[in-house]
Amino acid sequence: MAQSILFVCLGNICRSPSAEGVLRRMAEARGVALEIDSAGTGDWHVGEPPYGPMQEAAKARGYDLSPLRARQVQRADFERYDLILAMDDKNFAHLRRMQPEAGRATLRLFTDYAPTTGATEVPDPYYTRDFDGALDLIETAARGLLDQLSE
Ligand code: 4NP
Repeated sequence: MAQSILFVCLGNICRSPSAEGVLRRMAEARGVALEIDSAGTGDWHVGEPPYGPMQEAAKARGYDLSPLRARQVQRADFERYDLILAMDDKNFAHLRRMQPEAGRATLRLFTDYAPTTGATEVPDPYYTRDFDGALDLIETAARGLLDQLSE
């Protein structure tokens, strides 16, 4: 079973910190011990907390993202985590190019764990402004991921 999971998006201020906060709370509720973190493929927001409107939408569902700070994904993350989950195809392709040949981490799309939705990416709410839609999909995928990890 994967013990450590890294979520990756572009800026690490909307989708991946939300996934981190959602999975952390769901795992705690189920009593599943996981190490969870998030990172961005880009470096524009390094050191910043999650985007304000994203934090507000998450807070309305009980997820406190305020302690999180953005960081950029590193090649060493492929040795540190069991599972690296990309939010969209571009993030996935970026990670694939960085991935060491014999790295520890398995790389997948987060939406693989939400097959009933038909989604193939988590649309970026920084651009779509649909923060609740992103959270709906993230919650569905996080539940699917935990179900698979518990099997
Ligand atoms: P995220 O959204 O990848 O879900 O964190 C973004 C936030 C900011 C930018 C891009 C994506 N940006 O270019 O500033």
